[in-house]
Amino acid sequence: MSKSLKIASTLQCDLLIIGAGGAGLRCAAEVLEKRPETSVIAITKGSHPQKSHTSTAQGGLAAVDPKDPADKTIYHMFDTWKGSDCTADQGVVRKITEAAWEQILWLETRGMHFSRDHNGKLSKRTFGGHTLNFGESSAYRAVFEADRTGKGIMDTCWGESLKRNISFINQSIATELLFKDNQCIGCLVFKQKTGELVRVLSRATVLATGGSGQVFKVTTNCRQNTGDGLTLILQAGLPIMDPEAVQFHPTGIVGPGILASETLRSVGGILRNKELEPFMERYAPKMKELAPRDLVARAIVSEIREGRGVLNPDHRLEHVWIDLRHLPDVVHEKQIPEVTGFFKKYLNIDPKHELCPVHPSNHYHMGGIPTNASGEILDRSQKVIAGLFAVGECAAASFHGFNRLGTNSILELITMGKFAADRVLDYFNSVSDNLPEAKGHLTLSRFSQYLEAGGDDNIGKIRDALRTLMTDKVSIFRTEAGLLQTMETLKELKDRADKTALSSKSLRMNQELFQHWELDNLLSVSMIIARAALDRRESRGAHYREDFPARKDEFNYHTLVSMTQFGEVEMAKREVDMSIFNEKGEYYEKFGMIERKY
Ligand code: FUM
Repeated sequence: MSKSLKIASTLQCDLLIIGAGGAGLRCAAEVLEKRPETSVIAITKGSHPQKSHTSTAQGGLAAVDPKDPADKTIYHMFDTWKGSDCTADQGVVRKITEAAWEQILWLETRGMHFSRDHNGKLSKRTFGGHTLNFGESSAYRAVFEADRTGKGIMDTCWGESLKRNISFINQSIATELLFKDNQCIGCLVFKQKTGELVRVLSRATVLATGGSGQVFKVTTNCRQNTGDGLTLILQAGLPIMDPEAVQFHPTGIVGPGILASETLRSVGGILRNKELEPFMERYAPKMKELAPRDLVARAIVSEIREGRGVLNPDHRLEHVWIDLRHLPDVVHEKQIPEVTGFFKKYLNIDPKHELCPVHPSNHYHMGGIPTNASGEILDRSQKVIAGLFAVGECAAASFHGFNRLGTNSILELITMGKFAADRVLDYFNSVSDNLPEAKGHLTLSRFSQYLEAGGDDNIGKIRDALRTLMTDKVSIFRTEAGLLQTMETLKELKDRADKTALSSKSLRMNQELFQHWELDNLLSVSMIIARAALDRRESRGAHYREDFPARKDEFNYHTLVSMTQFGEVEMAKREVDMSIFNEKGEYYEKFGMIERKY
């Protein structure tokens, strides 16, 4: 073992937040507001919390204003349930949608600059699958800050945390959760800049590490979204829920896959194929462009597969168009300036006058770390793990089931951040601040292995091969043969990765060492996605099996996947919570296993 590989110091705090994006910092802000003496440490992988992926969110966040004469929370609940393809947990759907407007007010009173209409009221836009009166017409339910809503959320949550007792450890990763007597008491942290391993002991630990989009080659996700939180949980012998539920956003900018917000369709953008036909009418006659994302993404790929795509010569990739040319200048300038700027910057296209090329891009992981409605992490038998919480995209409470509606993710991170904070505050009353020591045993052996490997492969090349494989075989359309082949190839890639030597053995600022650790996480997450997708021999929401194209009642459950050793996967199931349906209250029949037509 490398001599310099040792735990350099120990820090202690009340609350440890792993991942300082919107969800993590909303949680920190709430705890600090209610209990200012709390010591909080937030670890962020990026060079600054503001670099978190939340900052890139564009479209808005859904919330029913109780004063809205047309919209109702029950409609939002129904849309979320239907959008999820009947796999969201109804208790969580109710709790989040009912708390939504209060959270908008929290943001607003803390300085977020929501866009406003001519009367000075918060502006609202519609997004796919959000309707009035159980599907009758589109609901204008999402509040927003132009098309850079995520930046406003980050500024607000970061500012609110910063003014109290929080310290940030930037450019660092949590490599291992620490437990004593089934209670989480913190984690080991690797500081990339200094190459030090630090033990952080905490009374409560919140995982908020974001998504795992880097598993795919074409993604709207930031470079740092490598499924790190999911891997920490697998490593601890805990399960991941519904990993096969992966969302592809219909409109990524062709090539890099950068998000071209659903706002474009909300303000009237039209999807067109090679013949310039507005094809969505054939797939979703009523909602057309504003059908949920799983449906629109499949429609686009079907157009391309059936020969109605357009070939982009630069990226040698087929795509469809989004037509924004008919929109008034004021819409381009006030509602979609950011996305318009992306088309200009990356493709030299002016959306006011030219068609814009788009293709689905990986966007969001509905699956994740299973939690209850307060963000407490659950084991396979649904028992709460003391002191351990998860919020944001890495978590699955499950508000989204198998397909998330646009603008429900920021809503989820804001509300779940708050709910987890409330539970953390309760938890502080029952846990001592005398934390036991815990060593951790995995990090040192894992890092030693990276430093001691002797082969001549290349981590970057293996990462590229993995991302291409997942994009080719495990994205919008899946088959048994493709999934089996993926699992075999993943084992080969893991084998290659294990034998790859690092060109430098330094621990300080060693990008390759860092990337090897990320690659291991990507491999683990890919393996559980592929395996869960293989076992789910049906189609549901964003999980589409060409060999089993229909939803089947026998699969009305959540998947639980454990994997402590790479490739040794254990599968289990968890019931979907249908409490709204089971309570048989008003409109309960809308919350059964309904048909999904748009
Ligand atoms: O299209 C968008 O602006 C993305 C929103 C979301 O994923 O919720």
